[in-house]
Amino acid sequence: MITAIAAVTRNWGIGKDGDLLFHIPEDKKFFRRTTINHTVIMGRKTLESLPNGKPFKDRSNVVLSRNTAFATEGVTVIGSIDEAVRLAEEKPDEEIFVVGGGEIYRAMLPYCQKALITKIDAETEADTFFPNLDEDLGWTLSEQSEEYDFEGTKYSFCTYISVHK
Ligand SMILES: NC(=O)c1ccc[n+]([C@@H]2O[C@H](COP(=O)([O-])OP(=O)(O)OC[C@H]3O[C@@H](n4cnc5c(N)ncnc54)[C@H](OP(=O)(O)O)[C@@H]3O)[C@@H](O)[C@H]2O)c1
Repeated sequence: MITAIAAVTRNWGIGKDGDLLFHIPEDKKFFRRTTINHTVIMGRKTLESLPNGKPFKDRSNVVLSRNTAFATEGVTVIGSIDEAVRLAEEKPDEEIFVVGGGEIYRAMLPYCQKALITKIDAETEADTFFPNLDEDLGWTLSEQSEEYDFEGTKYSFCTYISVHK
């Protein structure tokens, strides 16, 4: 099963200038707790946005790049969305997480059953977006946590389910 996990603002913005829009400690903990010991799939640009360009610890890191020469320590590089889907199909009992960024969410969403979305109640300029699931009839909001607050920024944890998968 493939699950997307992302933090979005009110207009589904996820990033600007290669970085995240918000750094909310409880959201980082949620991300770590949820993905730990699992396979995470990300685009090459997201890998490069991580501290020192290093993969996530205690997770199997798979990175999508069209550059066949791209290689970096601790990472499995794959060259197509098909390969990513095949990888998930080979491990049907495992939950595999798509962790960004914009290009990879867009490409992988049709293969995801679930999306764990941290909704940040803020409007911040962004240059990278997650597809708006509230406007997508193929997705339904199944759960929403209470609202939390980090230094005045309100956010909640939402689970969306694909109606097709
Ligand atoms: N808010 C969140 O939850 C969240 C999570 C993750 C990332 N982000 C943000 O998202 C932004 C990065 O997103 P992005 O859209 O610019 O880049 P991205 O999706 O992380 O990576 C794009 C790269 O992935 C590779 N790629 C894309 N499609 C592919 C395909 N079909 N086959 C093989 N490789 C493929 C290409 O790498 P090559 O150029 O090497 O070929 C492409 O340049 C950053 O601002 C980051 O902070 C936010």
